[in-house]
Amino acid sequence: MRYLITGGAGFIGSHMAEAMLARGDTVAVLDDFSTGRRSNLAAVASHPSLTIVEGSVVNSALVTALVGEADHVVHLAAAVGVRKIMAERVQGIRTNVEGSETVLAACAKHGRPLFFASTSEVYGKNAKVPFSEDDDSVLGASSLHRWSYACAKLLDEFLALAWFHEHKLPVTVARFFNVTGPRQCPDYGMVLPRFCAAALSGNNLEVHGTGLQSRCFLHVDDCVRAVLALVDTPVAVGRVVNIGSDEEISIRALAEKVLEISGSAAKIHAVPYAAAFPEGGFEDMLRRVPDTARLSRLTGWERKIDLAQTIRDALRWAREV
Ligand SMILES: NC(=O)c1ccc[n+]([C@@H]2O[C@H](COP(=O)([O-])OP(=O)(O)OC[C@H]3O[C@@H](n4cnc5c(N)ncnc54)[C@H](O)[C@@H]3O)[C@@H](O)[C@H]2O)c1
Repeated sequence: MRYLITGGAGFIGSHMAEAMLARGDTVAVLDDFSTGRRSNLAAVASHPSLTIVEGSVVNSALVTALVGEADHVVHLAAAVGVRKIMAERVQGIRTNVEGSETVLAACAKHGRPLFFASTSEVYGKNAKVPFSEDDDSVLGASSLHRWSYACAKLLDEFLALAWFHEHKLPVTVARFFNVTGPRQCPDYGMVLPRFCAAALSGNNLEVHGTGLQSRCFLHVDDCVRAVLALVDTPVAVGRVVNIGSDEEISIRALAEKVLEISGSAAKIHAVPYAAAFPEGGFEDMLRRVPDTARLSRLTGWERKIDLAQTIRDALRWAREV
């Protein structure tokens, strides 16, 4: 099978490319290297079945040509990370709306199946635990720019499902919940790589707010297995599916666990949101837990890697870079 992975030089995309090549697929990566890195693909750079194309998902002619050469498209390219979304406001929305629209139109033109990476952020401030795919999206005001990411991804989901219902385009939408592990870069506000980098350098581990807010962190290898299972599952077409871990932890407890596993003597430092995001426009949600029953029912997927191993792997990578 020939796959096009947009954002294939990124954190999740590079692991996806490696896994597809390992099972004998041919892979074309389209990436503008805004947050992705060539070094992420270093292990497979000379693989005869890998092509790397530098360009943007908003370039319609390029995307249309690449989609035409693929059998299946995995659309991961996006502006990601709270810091990036807050710092590059127009560009972030453009990438996440126009980019997805361009990829969908190209898939429709060539009749190619699409896997679309959405996010748990679309559940927003909904207080329900755990989140099931048909639960409400409760987003904040447009004056709080952090919601633009969730809003853009939600619009992408509507558009993808509209192409499916109106034009029978085979689209599968998956909502990733806090995927983490080796190659996730600390520069854009992702919490585990930030904590690992701080623990190894002896700097404070900065916990935003009270630290009582909790998340479920999924190892990238488990995420990739779930995506591969979904792209191989025809009955998943036209569905929205959560991908995440059931192991919930508060951010303060995560910081403590990173210190314990790394053996670091660094300190935990609480930083109010107003200080962490002085430009304003930020608010957080207390809990974010996925219900993954649909994923398991459709594909048989189960999480294999626990949080302690995920932290060990993230620390190992942080030591190497
Ligand atoms: N990591 C997570 O926890 C998480 C959670 C929810 C959703 N997601 C989604 O998963 C996907 C992959 O995220 P990631 O964590 O690997 O982040 P990432 O930043 O490492 O990957 C995004 C990739 O897209 C590329 N890119 C950005 N704009 C582009 C453009 N205009 N044209 C071409 N390439 C472009 C970047 O260079 C990067 O390689 C994204 O769609 C993201 O929204 C990730």
